[in-house]
Amino acid sequence: MKRKVVSALLIAAMTLSLAACGSKEAPADTQAPAETEAPAEAEGGEEETPAADAGSGELITVGYAQVGAESDWRTANTESFKSTFTEENGYKLIFDDAQQKQENQIKAIRSFIQQEVDYIVVAPVVETGWETVLEEAKEAGIPVILSDRMMDVSDDSLFEAWVGGNFVKEGETCGDWLADYLEAAGRGEEEINMVTIQGTIGASAQVGRTEGMANKLAEHPNWKMLEMQSGEFTQAKGQEVMESFLKSYDDIDVVICENDNEAFGAIDAIKAAGKTCGPDGDIIVVSFDSVKAAFESMIAGDLNATFECNPLHGPRVAEIIQKLEAGETVDKIQYVDEAYFDTSMDLEAILAERAY
Ligand code: AHR
Repeated sequence: MKRKVVSALLIAAMTLSLAACGSKEAPADTQAPAETEAPAEAEGGEEETPAADAGSGELITVGYAQVGAESDWRTANTESFKSTFTEENGYKLIFDDAQQKQENQIKAIRSFIQQEVDYIVVAPVVETGWETVLEEAKEAGIPVILSDRMMDVSDDSLFEAWVGGNFVKEGETCGDWLADYLEAAGRGEEEINMVTIQGTIGASAQVGRTEGMANKLAEHPNWKMLEMQSGEFTQAKGQEVMESFLKSYDDIDVVICENDNEAFGAIDAIKAAGKTCGPDGDIIVVSFDSVKAAFESMIAGDLNATFECNPLHGPRVAEIIQKLEAGETVDKIQYVDEAYFDTSMDLEAILAERAY
């Protein structure tokens, strides 16, 4: 493979990326087959390499098969990759937005293989169904790195490493928080009716958060899960699902939204139905991700708590690539530390420092 290791640029790449993640960029409107990023001048004043010859030149070519642009989290994740994998930092990024469709991601990976990229990075829409295309990448000698969501493959030599959040732990942290919150409100023994707006069914973020919460439900016989439905990690679908829950049940105490954007839609539905939510409202609303808009929602008194899922994986994947370039071994599974935030905290101060 024709690559140049630009290890001195790694620290600069990470610093630039972390700084840049504070600003939002409109989601890229790309479709399979994968498009190449806008041309820029390569390091040392060389001409950038044409898209049709992506593997040539001095840059490390990285194809990123992104899920889509369904949430604020995803926008921050895309920005993290775009600001890390720049030509100034020694990379050529080929970015593909799969619009939440696995078949588009498979097409993108095949396109990356055809273009002879140096590395393929995938944030898989769902966990299963990847063996064939990963075998093709392996056959072509292209290392695959997974980021964010996990794949369920029988042969883990099909990918080099995975970096992301511990989704089961996020769900369990949510359940523990809810138990403490209800206890503090004197409702620890009360029958609590819940509904869940799940993420994209089969995505490891959905599977893990649902499982983590189920573990906590098993510890609290007075908690009753009335219904779970997918909101596909979008605000519009989150609102639609909540509207239908509110029509079916008039005694919902808690709504668990498997991402912040679904919660924003659910809150709109609750208000439209003439109910209230948040710490002083009828319905407790909790969600995952902890994007800036979730802090605004907590400050407005609508959302009770948000459980962090860190999207800033660009520098983490760059570090894995640099280690592989240097012939070092990398940890196969790399979990990112994550926190949670609720209305008992100084949210204005945290929001002022928040990167995404
Ligand atoms: O895989 C991470 C999840 O995907 C985030 O919670 C969500 O916002 C995104 O769509």
